Amino acid sequence: MKIIGTGSCLPERIVTNQDLAEIMDTSDEWISTRTGIRKRHIATEETTTSMSVVAAKRALEDAGVKPEELDLIIAATVSSDQIIPMLSAQVQAEIGADNAVAFDINAACSGFLFDMAIADAYMKAGGSKKALLIGAETLSKLMDWNDRSSCVLFGDGAGAVVVSDEEDCVLGMVQGAKGKDGMVLSCVNRNTSNPFSGKEPAPLSYVHMEGQAVYKFAVKTVPAAINEALEQAGVAADEVSYYILHQANLRIIESVAKRLDQPMEKFPTNIQDCGNISAASVPILLDKVCKDGMIKARDKIVLAGFGAGLTWGACVLSW
Ligand code: COA
Repeated sequence: MKIIGTGSCLPERIVTNQDLAEIMDTSDEWISTRTGIRKRHIATEETTTSMSVVAAKRALEDAGVKPEELDLIIAATVSSDQIIPMLSAQVQAEIGADNAVAFDINAACSGFLFDMAIADAYMKAGGSKKALLIGAETLSKLMDWNDRSSCVLFGDGAGAVVVSDEEDCVLGMVQGAKGKDGMVLSCVNRNTSNPFSGKEPAPLSYVHMEGQAVYKFAVKTVPAAINEALEQAGVAADEVSYYILHQANLRIIESVAKRLDQPMEKFPTNIQDCGNISAASVPILLDKVCKDGMIKARDKIVLAGFGAGLTWGACVLSW
């Protein structure tokens, strides 16, 4: 599998830390020193579907691929606009990719890495030649805007890549899950009763996070996952040109860089401008890095994600 095109879409409305300080008890100083975040894009008119469609069209144009050439669409999201029809099917309809199989996955902030793993397996099994992989979120609708410890961290957006089976550029790929620790980052947000349960409907719940537990999980698990993927690939950390990590917290990224003994220059970031966009963060950052002309042919690139589940994923690509 090879990535042959990238695209992304961010909502127009930018909300700064100062904007948040006007509606809740927080400050630019608290948010930026603890997380690196200074602003985020928040959907007002846009939806998870509309942003995914724009990102998908941009990725297809970048790849020079027509929608009808796609045989597979996988969308990773925890915040699709509705449960069914799912996001991938909505995108399929909007872009006219009538020959594609379409389904969604939920692996939270690791979702895009799981997209990649599934598409790679489809291609290695001969089941796909050209696929569209999406990571898209409207997390602003899942936030408790009265919980300042979580709502300031997240943003909205969509990223997409087109992959092809023309070349095998995947050198290493690992994923993992640890459900027994999953409740440190949760969001139920579903009706929990029916007429036969004898229960009163519980109020809708929003994202709940034990920040320090998630932080400890991330700084331990991400370097281990990257090292495992590098070992599988037979690639040394020093040989990697860029590490494109899920953007959850600048301090987590700095800690990963330190544990891998790699300079921060190899870790592009957009968390300052976008916050944490869960499954969308890796493809949005990858699109920026590509459009900025940072990656050269045959560069070794690491992608890595982690988040709710708990889940994690990392892959090593030869570009
Ligand atoms: N503004 C101002 N003060 C805030 C605040 C905010 N937005 N949110 C929390 N605080 C306060 C708390 O109430 C607490 O006050 P207290 O000491 O008087 O009780 C204080 O700041 C410290 O809170 P704490 O939760 O201990 O902060 P922290 O140093 O652990 O930083 C996170 C919090 C969320 C930034 C940090 O834990 C983190 O980034 N964790 C990882 C989260 C993550 O990556 N999640 C996504 C994974 S995909």
